Amino acid sequence: MELKHRDGLARICKFRGVETPNLMPVVNPNKIVISPRDMYERFGVNALITNSYIIWKTPRLRERALKEGLHNMLDFPGLIMTDSGTFQQHVYGDVEVTNKQIVEFQRDIGSDIGTMLDVFTEPHYTEEEVKNAIDETARRGKEAKKYKGNMLLAGPIQGSIYPKLRAYASKLMNRIDFDYYPIGGVVPLMEEYRYAEVVEAIIMAKKYLDPSKPVHLFGAGHPMFFPLAALLGVDFFDSAAYIKYARDNRLLFPQGTMYLKEIKYFPYYSPALENYTPEDLRAMPEEKRTKILAEHNLYMSMEEINRIKEAIIEERIWEYAEIRARQHPQLLRAYRKILKHRRFLEKFEPKSRKNAFFYTGEESMQRPFVLGIKRRLRQFDRHVILELPRPWSANLETIPKDAAVNTPFGLVPLELEDSYPFAQSEFPWEERKIVPEFKEIMSAKEFDIAKIKSIADYQFAKGAGDALFEGEIKIIKSKNTGKIRNVVVDGEHIASLRAEDGLFTLKLAGAKRLHRAFAFHKFRVIVNEDSAQFNRQGKNVFSKFVMGCDDSIRPGDEVLVVDREDNLVAIGKAIMNCWEMKKFSKGMCVKVREGVE
Ligand code: GUN
Repeated sequence: MELKHRDGLARICKFRGVETPNLMPVVNPNKIVISPRDMYERFGVNALITNSYIIWKTPRLRERALKEGLHNMLDFPGLIMTDSGTFQQHVYGDVEVTNKQIVEFQRDIGSDIGTMLDVFTEPHYTEEEVKNAIDETARRGKEAKKYKGNMLLAGPIQGSIYPKLRAYASKLMNRIDFDYYPIGGVVPLMEEYRYAEVVEAIIMAKKYLDPSKPVHLFGAGHPMFFPLAALLGVDFFDSAAYIKYARDNRLLFPQGTMYLKEIKYFPYYSPALENYTPEDLRAMPEEKRTKILAEHNLYMSMEEINRIKEAIIEERIWEYAEIRARQHPQLLRAYRKILKHRRFLEKFEPKSRKNAFFYTGEESMQRPFVLGIKRRLRQFDRHVILELPRPWSANLETIPKDAAVNTPFGLVPLELEDSYPFAQSEFPWEERKIVPEFKEIMSAKEFDIAKIKSIADYQFAKGAGDALFEGEIKIIKSKNTGKIRNVVVDGEHIASLRAEDGLFTLKLAGAKRLHRAFAFHKFRVIVNEDSAQFNRQGKNVFSKFVMGCDDSIRPGDEVLVVDREDNLVAIGKAIMNCWEMKKFSKGMCVKVREGVE
């Protein structure tokens, strides 16, 4: 996987020529409704999933697949994943094939990603039954690796409804080192709208699996659930829903599913419905109608993926997920469950985003991002966390009058009032600022110095302000806005204050000061010698050269690139957190701004 864009745990990656998040439509080679070629050319589908067990069991298909290869047989030039028959075990109770046989078969027909024969864990299983199923899956996984050849191998994470066993399975399967990790055993949960249990399963997988490996949510076909799953870093989905719902005369729409018989007006446009009214469709022969409905449902599903990708690029995935979670009370419950894991999720949160913090409801104040802000504010004794979400209800008499702005995030030092997210947020409340006397007891110059130091402490760590701005300070302001733009100390340009988010971009001189003031590891990304020589010339850092890093690094942070002897090599912006930097073997992890020649 190569990380291209991210917003929290949600990510757009490149994997084997396709982009994630990606929806693989399920193709049943016995009952093709929309041809794979059509999917590829008209629907933007570049990966699909089909069932190798069905092919294996159907002599005509088995022979063709072995002779022509799977890609030719399906006439599909994109990525093809195959499943193994485990789902048939779930539906029918048994399969006639062994793990070795089905893995070899998938390899021989040229599947790009094959799946081992895992043991499906049902929601009603006891913990002991689930544990046994996981252990057997791991045993078969090791066996499957021997027969996979060049095919990528998927190792499903089972665990039913038990988060602890999901964690156990993730650690176990992670050690076996598969190429691809589906989360299995969730179909019966999805069917009963037990989304809160599904998000727990996803979080356990994301916590304990190598973050550089793709994660697939098996059988989560309804687009309603895609935003929450993508928010948690799910990379692949498969969908039989587009065809299952079509056969049931149901249409998928962004706000829910509708029966054709109940529709008077189509609430959304799709190319498939263009020439028809609901009445036309009802009057149509079944086969023709099923195809049109399947096409419509596929368009809607693909579009949801596009909206998610757009939200990731715009860095609005949390807001988007919150809005989408309002579609069904069980989704909202699942979203609230996600927020319980904010300590883990915060490790992927940047300190600022392209867009303002938008409040969509009381859950917004529980986002992991807010946890990060509060942690960084704790160093200021003027910060008081108020009862949220009604900041104005605080007893103003008890608030230190000297220096704080009242914001929905709590009382914030006045010096931070222009920094993200305090100035870049939208709330449905009237702003009620306490106008403090702080400014009045200082000169304008003294206040500016207090301001740059507090911003540095908030952005980097306590003490960063003193380290960066020790000496003869010259503050350069914008002629148009009067806002601080650049800070020069003892004749050296230390940092620029960004207009967008009121946080600093470090210059080399500033980086050197932080490097001197903070001991090894703090703010650092340690690279090997091969990399260092390029980074000194201003080239970006690639994760495969990272030897270590400061655990507190978050995506978007300013970081010091150093060699093994802790010589400063470059300054840049982290694209990943430290864990990801250590695990990814492909792609950039620090965008270098300046190298130390
Ligand atoms: N399809 C839906 N769920 C599963 C699962 O748990 N395992 C496999 N192999 N395929 C599935």
